[in-house]
Amino acid sequence: MKRRKLILALTLTASIAAIAASGCSNPESSTSETSTPTEDSDAKTLVMATSADYPPYEFYETAKGEGKPIGFDIDIATYITKELGYELEVKDMDFNGIIPALQSERADFAMSGMTPTEERKQSVDFSSIYYDAKNTIVTIEGSAYKSYKELAGKKVGVQLGTTQAEEAKTKAEEVGGITIEPRNKISDLIQEVKAGRIDAAIIEDTVAKGYIKTNPDLVFTEIEESGELSGSAIAFPKDSELVDKFEAVLQEMKENGELEKLVQKWFEDYYEK
Ligand code: ARG
Repeated sequence: MKRRKLILALTLTASIAAIAASGCSNPESSTSETSTPTEDSDAKTLVMATSADYPPYEFYETAKGEGKPIGFDIDIATYITKELGYELEVKDMDFNGIIPALQSERADFAMSGMTPTEERKQSVDFSSIYYDAKNTIVTIEGSAYKSYKELAGKKVGVQLGTTQAEEAKTKAEEVGGITIEPRNKISDLIQEVKAGRIDAAIIEDTVAKGYIKTNPDLVFTEIEESGELSGSAIAFPKDSELVDKFEAVLQEMKENGELEKLVQKWFEDYYEK
């Protein structure tokens, strides 16, 4: 009896000592709130999420993804953040990961040729549209398809999580016999069309042009029945205080000709080089 009590007492003392020694290093109690990009003490940098597989909006000049992404969106973002007194950090990720990154505030805003759809508006806020585009069918030279109907029986690639993926899915159901092949990156779609593993890819006109510039064995045709507007807007976490600030500078750029200059630079001059 006596011995057992002693052992118990010793164990108890030992545990108390252990608790005391661990003190404030208890991970549960010491974790303060995880800081988000906007709450950092160094709040001067804004993180922009993008999927840099989308020339001329955002892309790497070298094929292997070295260096920093450049393009139309990057220039607009640089202009706006500079005007507002912030540094810009660009975070490249899969397109499908952009909205989750905004929702978890791992990014302050996103520019990625993103269309402000009703569905997305449930999860994020958008600026006004800063550029319009149309969808096209990209194929290997010699087999130009002009409509979804002509794609019956074919394998059709789309980028995961995009409006193109949505449109293709709906049209495939209407037409029947189209196999949708979703991929994370536009560059993967391009490779697979070239290799003949998929027959076509649905990609917007300006971006298709960018890829065809470096892949002359490909062609694109505008889709006749592709109706919906596929303009691009800047996305933000819901209720972000940046929405109005960015919108004000964007309006300024529309009025003072800055936006037009960048359109000229990336959608015209870039293709002529
Ligand atoms: N405009 C389309 C959308 O919003 C495609 C955008 C894809 N962007 C990219 N950087 N890959 O769904």
